[in-house]
This record gives sequence, C-alpha cells and structure tokens, in this order.
Amino acid sequence: MAEELKITAGTKEEQYAQLLPQIEQLLQGEEDEVARMANLVAMLHHTFSFFWTGFYRVVGEQLILGPFQGPLACMRIGYGRGVCGTAWKEQRTLVVPDVELFPGHIACSSLSRSEIVVPILREGVVQAVLDIDSKELAAFDEVDRVWLERIVAIL
Ligand code: SME
Repeated sequence: MAEELKITAGTKEEQYAQLLPQIEQLLQGEEDEVARMANLVAMLHHTFSFFWTGFYRVVGEQLILGPFQGPLACMRIGYGRGVCGTAWKEQRTLVVPDVELFPGHIACSSLSRSEIVVPILREGVVQAVLDIDSKELAAFDEVDRVWLERIVAIL
C-alpha cells in the first residue's frame, strides 16, 4: 500500500528537498512508465497545490496528454507549439511568469497565469514534458526549475 506524503511546512526549497527522496522511494521497483508518471504528478500536485500538473508524452510529431491532476486539458500539442511544444523543440526548461506574454501560449484554461515546462530527455531525445500551471502570476522560478529537473530525472 502507498504511504502518505510527509512534507512539513517550510520554504519551497525545503519542501522539494523533502519530496524528492519520497518520490524516489515510492517509484522504486515500479517499471511501468504511466504508473510512475501518475504517482509523481499526484505527489507534486498535492504537495504544492498547483492548478494543473501533468505530463505530455512525445508520440511521433506531437505531444499527447499523459497522467495529470487538475482540470481537463488539451490532448495534443504540435512540435514547437505553445510552451510545451517550444520546450520540446528547444530541449530546455521554460519558466513563463505571465502566460499572456508568451507568443503562441495554448490556453487550456483561462485561469492559468504562469507556467513551467520541463522536458525529459533520454540520450539527448525529448521523451515527454512535465507541465505545471499556476493561477498566480510568476509562481515559478529558478528553485522550481532546479528541483523539477532533479525530480523528472527520477523517471
Ligand atoms: N499551456 C500549455 C498547454 C498545456 S496546458 O497548460 C495543460 C502550452 O502552452 O503549451
């Protein structure tokens, strides 16, 4: 049976530092990629009360919606489209403090105000992206980038 998360209040950095080993422990021994993504997303989403947290998987020329928590989302995103497709194309994490200022941003929900997208690379090829949305402006920064890149590396 899955254990409950143990995260005490603290700075964002402290919370990530507590979360990472718990994600490692929970995913240990499970090889199925969808199951791993699903619980990773649930742990992140509920620790930080994000608005939307989920994966898009690279399938051919598109990103296709994977495990997520939050409101309904767009199911397919083209290469180079939106924040997710751009992070895929540029193979780097994108931190977007105000989604309305990002050219081509895809608004799955009008409530989303800021976003971070972290690509997951295997042997230099993007396999998926982790997308997190917030209802607050500028919710994500370098701390999120560094820790989320460490967290997706667990996959
Ligand atoms: N805003 C994203 C689309 C995905 S949703 O936010 C869940 C983008 O511009 O790629």
